[in-house]
Amino acid sequence: MGYELLTFQVADRIAAITVNRPDKLNALNDALMHELGVAIDEARSRDDVGAVLLTGAGRAFVAGADIAELAEQNAVEGKSRAERGQRVFRRFEQSPKPTLAAVNGFALGGGCELAMACHIRLASEAAKFGQPEVKLGIVPGYGATQRLPRLVGKGRALQLLLTGEMIDAAEAYRIGLVNRVVPAAELLSAARAMLGGILAQGPLAVAHCIEAVDRGYDLPLDDAIALEASYFGLLSATTDKAEGMRAFLDKRPTRFEGR
Ligand code: COA
Repeated sequence: MGYELLTFQVADRIAAITVNRPDKLNALNDALMHELGVAIDEARSRDDVGAVLLTGAGRAFVAGADIAELAEQNAVEGKSRAERGQRVFRRFEQSPKPTLAAVNGFALGGGCELAMACHIRLASEAAKFGQPEVKLGIVPGYGATQRLPRLVGKGRALQLLLTGEMIDAAEAYRIGLVNRVVPAAELLSAARAMLGGILAQGPLAVAHCIEAVDRGYDLPLDDAIALEASYFGLLSATTDKAEGMRAFLDKRPTRFEGR
């Protein structure tokens, strides 16, 4: 499909999705949320794509849900808007191809939630994070009350959720909200380098690591490690496993085929 509020570009097996509504700091209105869902589905289904790089145009990553739309919603509309957005974000989180948020600027409300739904977060030194929903008299609707405590711990999550305060990239790194902070000019190259490093690995192994973490995280430990053991066994039946082992023993680079 043609996108109007984001750009979708594939190079070197990386689908770069750039949220592109800079005059509104990339605020997520319904149309943009819909396009994000189409874009992640396109990335997941295309054979020439192995990883997803998500970023924002201009001075924001995403400055939250579109407050002009939220202002008009009633209770029923609010619930279904939250559920629609949650489904889209879950498509990023459950993607078998790694998703990386390159946070270039404001990641507030739904923007911070979108970054948290990605597998990895890199931040520019200019990035700012926060969950300011309480300032608007609402709770987050796209997963922050659940993903934030899982990432940074309950105490720190509650501080951010209850104060609505904005934190800078260094603080986001200190509390474990982002994986790495880089100078603004290096953000996209660092993101591509990290994804390139993942793309060099066995794609089935990468996909099953993602799935083991996603499905196992909230299971009792015994069930979760049983799931891991089944994936460990399953991957042993793949051509990639034979190739990975042989390449190590032959002291040569791997040539994974994803089967
Ligand atoms: N929804 C709708 N519009 C938004 C928006 C949002 N979440 N965030 C920013 N915008 C719009 C502004 O209304 C403004 O539009 P206008 O030029 O037509 O008036 C434009 O984006 C630029 O934002 P502005 O507030 O002028 O920039 P700033 O540099 O002064 O402040 C922020 C930047 C991010 C601090 C401020 O825009 C802000 O607080 N945004 C809301 C963040 C938020 O509460 N997100 C959670 C929503 S649940």
